Amino acid sequence: MPDFAQQLIRWQTVHGRHTLPWQNTRDPYRIWLSEIMLQQTQVGTVIAYYQAFLMRFPDIASLASHSQDDVLAMWSGLGYYSRARNLHAAAQQVMMHHNGRFPEQIDDIVALSGIGRSTAAAIAAFAFGAHAAILDGNVKRVLARHFGISGYPSEKKTETALWLLAESLLPAQRVDTYTQALMDFGATLCTRSKPVCQRCPIQTGCSAFASNRVHLLPMPRPKKTLPQKSVRMLILHRDGKVMLEKRADNGIWGGLWSLPELALQHDIEQHCLATFGLTVTTSGRLPLLRHSFTHFHLHIAPEILHVSADASQTTPAQHNWFTPAAALAAGIPTPVRKLLQQLHATHTDVLCA
Ligand code: ADE
Repeated sequence: MPDFAQQLIRWQTVHGRHTLPWQNTRDPYRIWLSEIMLQQTQVGTVIAYYQAFLMRFPDIASLASHSQDDVLAMWSGLGYYSRARNLHAAAQQVMMHHNGRFPEQIDDIVALSGIGRSTAAAIAAFAFGAHAAILDGNVKRVLARHFGISGYPSEKKTETALWLLAESLLPAQRVDTYTQALMDFGATLCTRSKPVCQRCPIQTGCSAFASNRVHLLPMPRPKKTLPQKSVRMLILHRDGKVMLEKRADNGIWGGLWSLPELALQHDIEQHCLATFGLTVTTSGRLPLLRHSFTHFHLHIAPEILHVSADASQTTPAQHNWFTPAAALAAGIPTPVRKLLQQLHATHTDVLCA
């Protein structure tokens, strides 16, 4: 067994994490769910969502049989909603193509929606003891430092080199412990901004430490300033209910229920009449709200609008009226949740409980 793996395994048994809710199980569903939730999201945020999700959907069959709306409701606030849509689709694929049993072969796992090579390897290692290498952002950082690999880790050439390295380092046995060791080491010691080199079990062999380049590796991508976008959000209310619109499956907040949006330059009354057949009067505003995504900042101008007449008889498909309680229990984006909570607190006349 290479020293690198052996030392990390030894470190893991003493200093690693052993009691996270998705550990001490071989259930591929529980492991899969944790790996998906833990993409882009910290352990501390994931735990409560993970437990609630499992209470609601205890197994793959249950997940597959519920609607996408039900699944997104349990993901509401966690962000990166394509993860939930893919998880749901993949559960249905497991029912259809694998008789409801999560597949053991890496090729079959990777073929499921939303599971990349590293996630497939992590699931296979934890659930089935497979001999497969992971390479997520944390592991890229650990390898780039330890082996002194420069270049942007997201660049194809560097990534290929890192995959080869990750595979060459796999121990013959205890790949599950080694995989958890890499994750825990990257998350607790070899962190991005404040690595704890004094306590590092593999400091002796570390190229970046020896050459005083720990903060220079992996090479950070040059920072771009993110674009700013502005939009109005329309809080249309009638009989104590608000209108929400189901967003298209693709794009941000795909599949979620959100407030109707309108570009700043458009006329609100005209738009509401043309789109919803509703006559509205402005009944107030909520303070501007800023929400940041990976690729842009969104400035939201919330308009509260009272519906005074309805010429349409029918609400357009993809739109529906929600009581505050029903809206908060649905799959809604975090800023919409904040606006509805504010509205409830400050405009008691608008929404009945
Ligand atoms: N991040 C990704 N997978 C993880 C795991 N199994 N435990 C802790 N953090 C993780």
